[in-house]
Amino acid sequence: MSNPEWLKNAVFYEIYPQSFCDSNGDGIGDFPGMTSKLDYVKSLGCNAIWLNPCFESPFQDAGYDISNYYKVAPRYGTNEDLKHYIDEAHARGIRVVLDLVAGHTSIECDWFKQSCKVERNKYSDYYIWTKGWDRASTNYRTINGYSDRSGNFLINFFYCQPELTYGFYAVEDPEWQLPMDHPEVMKVREELRNIMKFYLDMGCDGFRVDMAASLIRGEKQYEGLKILWHDYRTWMNENYPEAVLISEWSIPEKSINAGFNVDFLVHFGLPGYTSLFRQEPERVPNSPYAGQGKRSFFDRDGKGDAELFVNEVLDQLDKMQGKGYMSIPTGNHDFGRIRQGRTLEELKVVYTAIFTFPGVPFLYYGDEIGMDYVYGLKSKEGGYNRTGARTPMLWDDTEKAGFSTADEKDFYLPLGEKSSRVSVASQEKDPNSLLNFTRRLIAIRRKYAALGGEGEFHPLFVRKNTYPMIFERKLGNERFVVAVNPSAQPVKGEFGVPGMENAKLMISCGKINLICSSGASVIEADGISAAVYRVVND
Ligand code: NOJ
Ligand code: CA
Repeated sequence: MSNPEWLKNAVFYEIYPQSFCDSNGDGIGDFPGMTSKLDYVKSLGCNAIWLNPCFESPFQDAGYDISNYYKVAPRYGTNEDLKHYIDEAHARGIRVVLDLVAGHTSIECDWFKQSCKVERNKYSDYYIWTKGWDRASTNYRTINGYSDRSGNFLINFFYCQPELTYGFYAVEDPEWQLPMDHPEVMKVREELRNIMKFYLDMGCDGFRVDMAASLIRGEKQYEGLKILWHDYRTWMNENYPEAVLISEWSIPEKSINAGFNVDFLVHFGLPGYTSLFRQEPERVPNSPYAGQGKRSFFDRDGKGDAELFVNEVLDQLDKMQGKGYMSIPTGNHDFGRIRQGRTLEELKVVYTAIFTFPGVPFLYYGDEIGMDYVYGLKSKEGGYNRTGARTPMLWDDTEKAGFSTADEKDFYLPLGEKSSRVSVASQEKDPNSLLNFTRRLIAIRRKYAALGGEGEFHPLFVRKNTYPMIFERKLGNERFVVAVNPSAQPVKGEFGVPGMENAKLMISCGKINLICSSGASVIEADGISAAVYRVVND
């Protein structure tokens, strides 16, 4: 299946609506606020936005627990406000992708309330209920004793997120498990299609699918998921060929082959992403993703390993066969902040890699200015240790950071210590700021197809437990050579690329030198440095 053209040079910006910009002084971000910041998103060079869920919800999981799929949460505005946001984004050449929470609803959803009833009704089989209230009857995660209905419901994540039924690929217990093609199951499948249709008709450009791999039960190799997502993608291709499906699955070879356009390489799928950024050393307080003795490649101590990641990327690219894209994001609302344990200069090195890697990059709001994780916060809306990465956007250096006019005590979350704050306003003024460096990187990526989704990826100097990492992106007669040295030590790497002596330096940070002699090129990189070179061979 083909991908829409626009995806080839897409750079996404992820927005957590609660924390972006509050327009009415209630301390919570909203659509008018987000609309007022569209020019800012455009100024970054991002041409697409992923919005975390913005639908009616009791917010026991920050909106990933939806009570009404067809209605925007009043705290963010109205359906008209969402439509206006999409229209205004489009007017600026920016696509808007919404979050599709396909696998579960909130316990407050009317469908679930109906499903809890003893009397059979339209919604009785919308969720997966075991037979009888005895909990021993299944190994699936269930909640018992919730309603008069004699049965326990399966949950997908928190206790308050009952699992919608998309059927069992192989039915083990016919007493309560329905097969994928059962008419009652097909009703849920249709409901999800209706939800998609509702927002696609409103103008949205596709969906990031929450827990995309969680929908089918009783399968071993994602056989059922493949049928399900292939069906939705075929329908979208026929009716909304410009729209995209992005999965939270984290095994691109599986998800792309099941019909998704993009999949994230993140924490719970394969180990490569984690090996780059998320195995923080002891000096990072309460590092939520500390590896057991392992170290990130992007760390000044220089004890990481780029090989694990690069081999994984090559393997995934090979198995994806060009059918879609992987995404290596700067972070998201489920992680610590990439800033943790890193300086702003170190982040320039990280972003040089992220914005030249293959696939479709995602920038998590605030990462462009190096917002830090805010420590010591009480869990908010089911955030737990994710809460510190969901704090309000720091727009300026005033008391309230330009986020809201409310009292700070009424903010969705506190802004964090003054001493560790960064801001858009201060970085706007500095041509060497992380913000402006990130803008230049994104502009380069968007300008040259070799750096986009179609460009080939070849390692040039990638060795076990060795720095720097040097790789090539290539399309036609155009090549880019990218070198990054996140370690604090000066290092060298040798490689061979034809025409390197005519290479043009596109962007760099720290001190880095390219030395070319007959046949071989050497990059001498000071500690914390990175560079992107462009070579055109006629
Ligand atoms: C993944 C989402 O990213 C996360 O924030 C949420 O808590 C779970 N899915 C459950 O929907
Ligand atoms: Ca508000």
